[in-house]
Amino acid sequence: MEDVMDKPTTSPISTRKHGDVLIILSNNPPVNALGAAVRQGLVDAIAEAEADSGVHAVVIACEGQTFFAGADITEFGKPPVMPWLPSVVDTIENCSKPVVAAIHGTALGGGLEVALGCHYRIAVPSAKLGTPEVKLGLLPGAGGTQRLPRIAGIKKALEMCATGNPIGAQDGFDCGLIDRLVDGELIQHAVAYAEEVRGIRPLPKSSERQDRLDEECSPAVFDEFRKANARKFRGFDAPEACIRAVQVACEKPYAEGVIEERKLFMELMSGTQARAQQYFFFAERKANKIEGLPENTEPRPVRKVGVIGAGTMGGGISMNFLSAGIPVTIVEMGSEALERGTGLMRKNYEASAAKGKLTAEQVEKAMRLLSPTLDFQALADCDLIIEAVYENMDVKKEVFGKLDRIAKPGAILASNTSYLNINEIAASISRPGDVVGMHFFSPANVMKLLEVVRGDKTAPDVLLTAMQIGKKIRKVPVVAGVCHGFIGNRMLMPRQIEATKLLLEGATPEQIDRVHVEFGMPMGPFQMADLAGVDIGWHRDPNRIENIRDALCAIDRWGQKKGAGFYDYDEKRRPSPSPVVQQIIEDFAKKQGVERRVITEEEIIERTLYTMVNEGAKILEEGIAQRASDIDVVWVYGYGWPVYRGGPMFWADTVGLSMIVDGLKRQEARMKPEFSFSKLLLEKADKGEKFTR
Ligand code: 3HC
Repeated sequence: MEDVMDKPTTSPISTRKHGDVLIILSNNPPVNALGAAVRQGLVDAIAEAEADSGVHAVVIACEGQTFFAGADITEFGKPPVMPWLPSVVDTIENCSKPVVAAIHGTALGGGLEVALGCHYRIAVPSAKLGTPEVKLGLLPGAGGTQRLPRIAGIKKALEMCATGNPIGAQDGFDCGLIDRLVDGELIQHAVAYAEEVRGIRPLPKSSERQDRLDEECSPAVFDEFRKANARKFRGFDAPEACIRAVQVACEKPYAEGVIEERKLFMELMSGTQARAQQYFFFAERKANKIEGLPENTEPRPVRKVGVIGAGTMGGGISMNFLSAGIPVTIVEMGSEALERGTGLMRKNYEASAAKGKLTAEQVEKAMRLLSPTLDFQALADCDLIIEAVYENMDVKKEVFGKLDRIAKPGAILASNTSYLNINEIAASISRPGDVVGMHFFSPANVMKLLEVVRGDKTAPDVLLTAMQIGKKIRKVPVVAGVCHGFIGNRMLMPRQIEATKLLLEGATPEQIDRVHVEFGMPMGPFQMADLAGVDIGWHRDPNRIENIRDALCAIDRWGQKKGAGFYDYDEKRRPSPSPVVQQIIEDFAKKQGVERRVITEEEIIERTLYTMVNEGAKILEEGIAQRASDIDVVWVYGYGWPVYRGGPMFWADTVGLSMIVDGLKRQEARMKPEFSFSKLLLEKADKGEKFTR
């Protein structure tokens, strides 16, 4: 049967008839976000279906890469434009003719709520379904918290709403969210389905279902869920609001439930956390954009990767590529180290398989792509070679010298250095344009951040390739300029300096760590030192004791790996304050004539967090970071800065830059000589400006 096209329209929503089925089609690239025009178009199209006596059923589908991926986030914070999404969904549900949602790509947030408003849902197996609002500091606000538990069950709804993680179509089918899974031409199948159900009355409405609630509602479900996720949700407002809203579905009739949902939604929407998380959504996407890249720059092909060094870092880096299906040649100096390294990679993969994150077959597939070797020459056919050898300039130069001789022309030569000068490494070989920094964070197979360090001579296509390959291996790449420690580690330095000075002045490691954890960091500076190794960067001479760190290292307190560091650890690695460390701190203070006093929480924040903001501002004014939001992306993904505070630069804006400056001025005398003000920070504070929009 020929489809009958309606009149041409400038609306992103068009309609066409196939027999007695009206197909409502959205075309709002890139993700069919439910902006005002889409919402209005949907309402108009449903009215058209109602008015046309020749229409007996409706299909709602989307063109392009995906079904509606949610409300249009760019509209948030602006004056609302009617019709509201909740009433659009109600309009769909109240249509007197059956409406079928035809889902491909990602039905997310408001998109899933539209699907829940439809009477039937049909999807292709590759579709994903989710309510990611919680990741934007929100909850599903168009009836989702009330309809989803009625359709998919309480447990599924709780999991989806409070974690924001999407589920696959099969999972959706198994829990009742999807009525039919189809391969092939989705719209054709959806039309056939609509024809099949056109006569069924009453229409199945999500808001009227009660059976799933009766099966699963009990206060224990909610308490257990809260308990099981307490760590994950710590500090965030939105997950608890999501749980509360789903709980309301159990306690109150639908009509009251949606009112409660709206109230909770509005509360979240007006809070700082939602603003921070929505800011961060765009920050992450902006980080992808490289400034000053000549137009028409094309990436170089990367079909095979070489990694030098099979230590923890080299192994983790390799796993990223293997998991993405890219073959890796890994080189080590000795067979024992090589075997240990590849063995560890296998062990890590198998641990993921044991947790159900991978199948045994995927593990084998990844490991088959790995070629371990002792022969440097084997790197000759690699398109990208990343060295992860000992952090020392001479060692790095030697490795790059060798690469210069054997790598094929056009190969990208990357260093995983965390501090060293990429320009100096590049200058030591004959092809500086091919050199770039690719700084992974430990554990490299887990941590999302990748600092891509742009040297003075790095060729544009080399930079672009490093950024794109970073995305391909599911990292969040951020461009950084050359300086000691790049963006992340450079900002760590003032924090560490002041935290250590505070110990001498009267604070304890646990006090400083507690302030950081309460702020929302996963751990404080001393917990982090113990985890990473107190001995990192230590001069290795136990007789040379110039600071607290030297003193700890000299008596083997190297951190968790030795069962002792700034803290004592029991056999289960549970920390407790150490009297030995306390004594060392007090002795040092005495020796250096530091007067000990009570340190307040406020001072800890000013000296360890405000100083980071100051360093971030310097990084910005020196052009090391392209934009303030990139710094925030580095800190959220590299160091676990709480995303509900947006990142250090966004957080500084919420505190107020003049407050930051005042706090730093209060502490300036104590922080000298290491501390100096960023001009940019002073200027912005003076003018009442912000770092982020
Ligand atoms: N609103 C506005 N713009 C959006 C958007 C949205 N919901 N989702 C994505 N975009 C934009 C991105 O900013 C990006 O723009 P850019 O090209 O200018 O940088 C572009 O669309 C493409 O996005 P991605 O780069 O993320 O593309 P991917 O293909 O990698 O991912 C996606 C696609 C999985 C849909 C991902 O974009 C995504 O997760 N989007 C957000 C989904 C979401 O959070 N939905 C809930 C919204 S809140 C809501 O619905 C409230 C309701 O309950 C009332």
